[in-house]
Amino acid sequence: MVLYKASLQRLVHKLVLQPATETSSIFRRFPSVRKQTCASDMSKEQRTLQYVLQNASRGDPDSVLATMDTYAREQEWAMNVGDSKGAFLDQFVQETAPQSMLELGTYMGYSAVRTARLLQPGAKFITLEVNQQNAAVAKEIISFAGLQDKVIQVISDSSEAIPQLKTKFNVETFDMVFIDHFKDFYVRDIKLLEENNLLRKGTVVVADNIIKPGAPEYADYVRTCGKYDSTFHEGKLYSGKPDGLEKSVYRG
Ligand SMILES: C[S@@+](CC[C@H](N)C(=O)[O-])C[C@H]1O[C@@H](n2cnc3c(N)ncnc32)[C@H](O)[C@@H]1O
Repeated sequence: MVLYKASLQRLVHKLVLQPATETSSIFRRFPSVRKQTCASDMSKEQRTLQYVLQNASRGDPDSVLATMDTYAREQEWAMNVGDSKGAFLDQFVQETAPQSMLELGTYMGYSAVRTARLLQPGAKFITLEVNQQNAAVAKEIISFAGLQDKVIQVISDSSEAIPQLKTKFNVETFDMVFIDHFKDFYVRDIKLLEENNLLRKGTVVVADNIIKPGAPEYADYVRTCGKYDSTFHEGKLYSGKPDGLEKSVYRG
C-alpha cells in the first residue's frame, strides 16, 4: 500500500513538473491512474490541470480558457479572473497592445493564457507567482495552450522581484500591469512600481477583485492620489456575484 501510494505520488509529481507532452503519455500508458490520482492526493489546482489535459484542445488557448471556466463553475471554484471580468481584460489588452506587460499573481495561468493569446509578436510578458505549486501548474497549462514562448514565469514574492525587474529582464517601463495577487499588497506594490520607475505616462494598470474580496484601500489610492485617471468596470465572479476591475492610466 505504501509502495502503491509512493508510485502514485511519483506520477502526480511527473504530471505537474514535466512538459505536457510527457504528461499526456503518462495518461495514455496508465489510464486507470486518472481516476485514482484525481480522488485523493491531488490539490485542487492539480485536479484542474488534469481536467484541462483531458478536456481541452492542445494549442488552443480559447479551449483551455473555456475548459477552466467550466471546471471552476461546475466542479471546484477557482480564483481565476474568469470569463466575465476576463472580457474586460481582453478589451484592455487589445486597446493597449502592450509591448511590455507585468502580471502580479499567476495562480494557474488562466489570466496569463487570456493575456498572452492577444499579445503582439515580440511583446514581453512577465508574470510573478510566489507559490511554487501554483507556478508548476501554470507552467503546464500555459504550455498546453501553446503559449510557453510568450510568457516569462517568475517564481518570487512581488516585493522582492519588482525592484529587480529592470536589470534582470531588461525592462525600461511597462505599458500595462495586471494586479491580481494578495489584495493587501496592491497599494504596496503599485507604489513600488512607481518608486522603481516602472510606470510611464499612459501605462495602463488593471486591478482585479475591487468588490470581492475587495481592495478598498487600493481603489481609494488610485482614485484620489492624483496620479491616475481611474475607472471601474463591473463584471461577475463564477458564482454570478458582482465584482469588478479598476483600470487606472498613469499620468506620469
Ligand atoms: C487571485 S490569484 C491570481 C489569479 C490569476 N491572475 C488568474 O486570473 O488566473 C492570486 C495569486 O497570487 C499569488 N500571490 C499572492 N501574493 C503574492 C506575492 N506577494 N507575490 C507573488 N504572487 C503572490 C497567490 O499565490 C495566488 O496564486
